[in-house]
Parts: sequence; structure tokens; C-alpha cells
Amino acid sequence: MNQFFARKPLSLLLEEMKGENRLRRILGPVTLTSLGVGAIIGTGIFVLTGIAAHDKSGPAIILSFVAAGIACVFAALCYAEFASMVPVAGSAYTYAYATMGEFFAWIIGWDLILEYAVGSATVAHGWSHYFQDFIGIFGLKIPLIFRKAPMDFDPALGHFVATGSYFDLPAIIITIIITFILIKGIQESANFNATMVGIKVAIVLLVIGVGIFFINPDNWSNFAPFGYGGLTFFGKTVWGQEAMDGAPLGMLAGAAMIFFAYIGFDSVSTHAEEAKNPRKDVPIGIIASLLICTVLYILVAGVLTGMVPYNQINIDAPVSDAFNKVGLTWAQFVISLGALAGITSVLLVMMLSQPRVMLAMARDGLVPPSVFGAIHEKFRTPWKSTIITGIFVGILAGFLPLRVLAELVNIGTLFAFVVVCTAVLIMRRKHPEAERPFKAPFFPLTPILGIITCSVLMFSLPLENWYRLFGWLAIGMLIYFFYGRKHSVMHKMIQSGEIK
Ligand code: ALA
Repeated sequence: MNQFFARKPLSLLLEEMKGENRLRRILGPVTLTSLGVGAIIGTGIFVLTGIAAHDKSGPAIILSFVAAGIACVFAALCYAEFASMVPVAGSAYTYAYATMGEFFAWIIGWDLILEYAVGSATVAHGWSHYFQDFIGIFGLKIPLIFRKAPMDFDPALGHFVATGSYFDLPAIIITIIITFILIKGIQESANFNATMVGIKVAIVLLVIGVGIFFINPDNWSNFAPFGYGGLTFFGKTVWGQEAMDGAPLGMLAGAAMIFFAYIGFDSVSTHAEEAKNPRKDVPIGIIASLLICTVLYILVAGVLTGMVPYNQINIDAPVSDAFNKVGLTWAQFVISLGALAGITSVLLVMMLSQPRVMLAMARDGLVPPSVFGAIHEKFRTPWKSTIITGIFVGILAGFLPLRVLAELVNIGTLFAFVVVCTAVLIMRRKHPEAERPFKAPFFPLTPILGIITCSVLMFSLPLENWYRLFGWLAIGMLIYFFYGRKHSVMHKMIQSGEIK
């Protein structure tokens, strides 16, 4: 039982940071913010906005972005406090280890797989949508059998239907390519990322700057066709409308779906080990990247729903299609290409973050270090872990539909955010004296509101996501009982009396 709640001492974490075998400290505040933006703007804004506006919120998707953005700001302030205190890779996993003990740390590390690996599969799907949109401009088409996942959820019918495809080939191919790039090394990745970020921010600004002239305010007249609610409690609708299958509808339900668009700011904390001045610059990177994206998203949602009636928004490549619909075919070309580049950089960062969290867990002995801690001799990358991530992501991306994956990622990530906010509350109580270069303001209001708003979004997701989350965590618990508990480095240190 003791081992369950054994917390990794703050002093030990800080001591470990000084050890060898750490990553190089080369990133400044601008690069960190750019990495954040690189991880954030992708499939969420370029693809899911269409599905959410079309099926869940209508033009009120604009407010959905505000609601999800607010929940993220609270969580981001908590992430920033932790990242400034314990600037090591491992993110929420490490914070939980320091505050709630080994068992929770394991649960959250396991949960982060939902965010990063399942998230990568979702992003790979989005990439495939825009790839197909792009080659479609030249009259090219992928054969139907290789176009998408074999089944998808049809909200009109309220159940899954066969798509006529076997698997999503472009999603699998991009996953393989990124896996190879990550194995070979990511030394140039910061530069590559900066270019990608430049391109995608330019595209987003173009969408806003040009699209604004094509807004027809009539499209907003039925602003919230599904209402403003969308809150359920384990299958019972508490507030708002519901679809035929019982899934919540409305502005909040839309927020729970497009929450995906914000995921990524927290990945800045996984670069804490590479930051020149992590205590100051990581909080800046987290908060600045989130704020920049929030403003851009709200504007894009306004433009998109203003250009096209919500029920005619394309659900595969909504942003580029909106420009096609108003006759700007040149814009469709530029936007598809920009979206492709932008989504590629998200995939790169997410598939990079997954092996890093596993590396932190391997160092602690909770997963086999021979596999997840293995660093390639020549490339100096966690190659085995990267390959395993690639295979896992490729299979999910090839065979499961986008919306199912996205909702699973959202519930997993929201859960991680709730844990981080809780961890900040605990840490302030247990270690009020610890040095906090960045402090979440309005304590304890900020973490408490973070817990409440993220929980509300979790309850605005369709019920089956809770079952999937519980199922996933149950598998994780089994692995902990049969492996992690016995191999934990901390456990051995406690037994040998090295730490109490
Ligand atoms: N926020 C990232 C995206 O939308 C995960 O692609």
C-alpha cells in the first residue's frame, strides 16, 4: 500500500535533472512558443471544426471555442506552475509522481498514451483528409478501398455504418514517414517546425483576412440550432438536446469535441529539459502559444460559419471547401497545402512526445527500460519506443474513424488536465515552501476552476467515451500490478533505505 502512494521527492527530481544523459538545453521563449503553436494548430481547426459545427453546435461553435479555450487557460496556468518548479521531461506523469504517488503517476502516464499516441492517429486521419482534398484539385482520387477507416459513425442514423473502405492508406503512410524521421533524429526539427509554424499561421491569417469579405451574416441568424447545452451525466442528459443515439448536442457538446484543437500547449512542458531557462521560458511558451491559438481559432470559426450555412459545411476538409464554395479555388489550393504542412508538424511533435513520456517512465522502472529506455547508438533517439509508437499509431489511424479517436483523445487529455490541476492544489499544501518561479494566479480558484471546467467538458462527451476511458485505465492497472509495481526504481530505493 505504501508503495502505491510513495511520492517521488521533489529534491530527487531536481537532483536527477542534474545527472548525465539529459537532453541539451537550447530552446528559448520564442522557440518554445513556436513549438507550442506547432503542436496546437492542426486537425482540430482544419477538420473537426466542420464536424462539430455541422453536427453539434452550428454557428455557436464560435462560443464552443471560447468555452474550451477558457478550460485550457486554467489548465495551462497549472501546467506552467509545475513546469517552472520541476522542469523535467515527463510532464503530467512527473507532476503526479511528485504529488500523488506512484500509482497515480502510472495511471496518468498510461492515460497520456491516449493524448499522444491516439492523438497522433487522429491527426494522421486529418492529414489524410487534406491530402485527398489536395490531390482532388488535380482530379486525382485514392481508390475507395484505401480512402478511410472501414466504418464510421453516422449521426443522422445514430449508428456505425460501413464506409466501403478497407483502411486509410494515406494516414498509414504519413505515420510511417514520420516514424522514420523521428528515429533518424530531430536535430533539425526545431527549424523544420519553425518553417511549418510560419506557413500554417500565414494560412490561418489568410483564411481570416480573405474569408471575412465573404461572410454573409444571415448564416449566423440561426446561431445555436442545437442550443447552448450538451451536458450529460453518464448517459442522462442534464442540460440541452440529445441526438438519436443519446449523444449530447449543443454549444458545450461542440466545445467537448473541438477541445481537441487546443491539445498541444501542454507538450511545451515535455521540452522543459531542453529549455535554456525553463523556469521562466516554459510558462511563457505554454501560455503564449495557447493564447495566440485561442484568438486565431475564434476568428476562424466566425469566418467559416459566416461563409457557409452550418448544415452545408464540409466535414472532411471544411476550411478549404468553404473557399471553394465561394468561388476562390486558388485559395482552396493554398489552404489544402498549408493545412497539410501544418498538420504534419502536429504529428511530428505528438509522435515525438509519446516516446519521451515513456522514456521518463522507463527511467523510473515502470515500463521495461530495455525497450522504452533504449537510445539508438548512432542517432541518439529512443528508437525502439518510437517504432512501437509508430506501429500503434498506424494501426489506429488506418482502421478507426476520426470522430471516435478524437473523442477518446479528448476524454483522456481532459482527465490529465484535471489531475494536473489537482496536483497543483496538493503541492501548494504539502510544499508551500518550494520555490515556484511561476505561480498560477488567484490560487486556489484557478486550479479549482480548471478541475470544474475540464470535468464539465468530459461530461459533454458521449457516454461510450467514459467506458473506453475506464477500459483503457483498467488495462493500465493490470500492467502496473504485474510489472510496474515489481520493477519500480523508487520501490527499490525505499526498500534499501536510500529514501524514506
Ligand atoms: N491540437 C492538435 C490538432 O488540432 C492536436 O491537430
